[in-house]
Amino acid sequence: MPRRKKQFKNLTGMPDILKKELSILQDIQKIVTSFANFYNFYQISTPILEEEELFIKGTGEETDIIQKETYSFSTQGKERVILRPEFTPSIVRAYIQNGMETAPKPVKLWSFGPLFRHEKPQKGRLRQFHQFNLEILGSKEAISDALLVQVFANILFEIGLENWKLHVNSIGCKNCRNTYIRKLKSHYKSKIKSICPECKKRIIKNPLRVLDCKEEKCQRVKKLAPQFVNYLCEECHLHFKSFLEFLDIMELPYILNPYLVRGLDYYEKTVFEFIPEGKEDMAQNSLIGGGRYDSLVENLGGRPTPCLGGAGGVERIMEELEENKIKISSNLLEKNITFKEKPVVFIVQLGDMAKKDSLKIIEDFKKAKIKIAENLEKDNLKNQLDRASRIGVKYALILGQQECLNKKVILRNMETGIQKILIQKDLIKEIKKKLKK
Ligand code: HAM
Repeated sequence: MPRRKKQFKNLTGMPDILKKELSILQDIQKIVTSFANFYNFYQISTPILEEEELFIKGTGEETDIIQKETYSFSTQGKERVILRPEFTPSIVRAYIQNGMETAPKPVKLWSFGPLFRHEKPQKGRLRQFHQFNLEILGSKEAISDALLVQVFANILFEIGLENWKLHVNSIGCKNCRNTYIRKLKSHYKSKIKSICPECKKRIIKNPLRVLDCKEEKCQRVKKLAPQFVNYLCEECHLHFKSFLEFLDIMELPYILNPYLVRGLDYYEKTVFEFIPEGKEDMAQNSLIGGGRYDSLVENLGGRPTPCLGGAGGVERIMEELEENKIKISSNLLEKNITFKEKPVVFIVQLGDMAKKDSLKIIEDFKKAKIKIAENLEKDNLKNQLDRASRIGVKYALILGQQECLNKKVILRNMETGIQKILIQKDLIKEIKKKLKK
């Protein structure tokens, strides 16, 4: 018998994805695609291999990812390169490099693909895994934070996952962070004997990260630690308050988690995670995580640009489906609804009340599967109507304070300029009738 030659195996933490799993992964990708299309995100595909310095500066030199988890190496040409451990720095690089800074704001981009982190493989933690990633660049209003969180919640619902909790927090900006960090350091230093060796280092090098430690003794110290919400400057406080109000309006329940800090250096103000119920105290527990990164574009050589985004871990979601014996049964998939077409309606909102109502109207359109566009950042009528005509929608819905109070809305035919007043509750029915014609 001839001796068999060496048989090769995949690398640890980098599994093959076979038939059944691949089909679930593809279903998740299709669901994400439809939602990204519905909310007018454009897909972008960036290279898997990038310059190492982009992530050292972007993700942050002192983060676990950069300190311990990168696949980085020198090429034969002696360039230092890295297999991307996350999307965000690549997206920001591409945004600056491809002239998107001059495009009308916000620029909404989404991606799907593999990422690489050299972690110790275990449940929920792979070395090659997939994310769907959504970024909104050039957006400072808290309404965008709420809308982004809503998109992620909708994706999970459509996949069939409902047993999660949305955790939110604000970690302030450069102005208020110093005061908080001083308080945090002094609390941990007073308990230095009771924390793990890692946290002893973290409290000096990257203090916020101590709040992320899952060691039991560190958790005990954390319970009495100062909370960031009490140290926010006025601007961050108002931003966070407004974000929470928008979540209330959208009836999206959340847990105010004062110790949620996230493991990447670029975050400011809002941070959020979707965590399966009952897994709050476990490491590697989040299905989706994200937040604001208002200084990253500037730090990577662009103009000051407030941004936010988040990413979902596909394998973690697949594990959650399997654990709970849930099969994806999605209406969008069954009917092959992709929302690829151009939006037919643009919602113009004038003032705070209208902003709030427009969030609900957008969701009504989503349920009715009619694509709608918005620019929730803007408050001005002309500006929004200009955007509507640039997109080429048939109708604009105009909502001011008066309309909100009367539960009405103005429907404007963008070709003829003719306007008509509709009752909000009849809106979808009327639009459907018009579209049929
Ligand atoms: P992240 O929290 O590092 O954020 O990752 C997002 C999600 O990716 C996690 O919630 C988890 O589901 C999944 N994930 C992370 N690491 C692993 C792993 N080793 N194995 C399996 N799944 C994993 C980011 O990556 C940010 N870039 C998100 C973002 C976008 N923030 C702003 N924009």
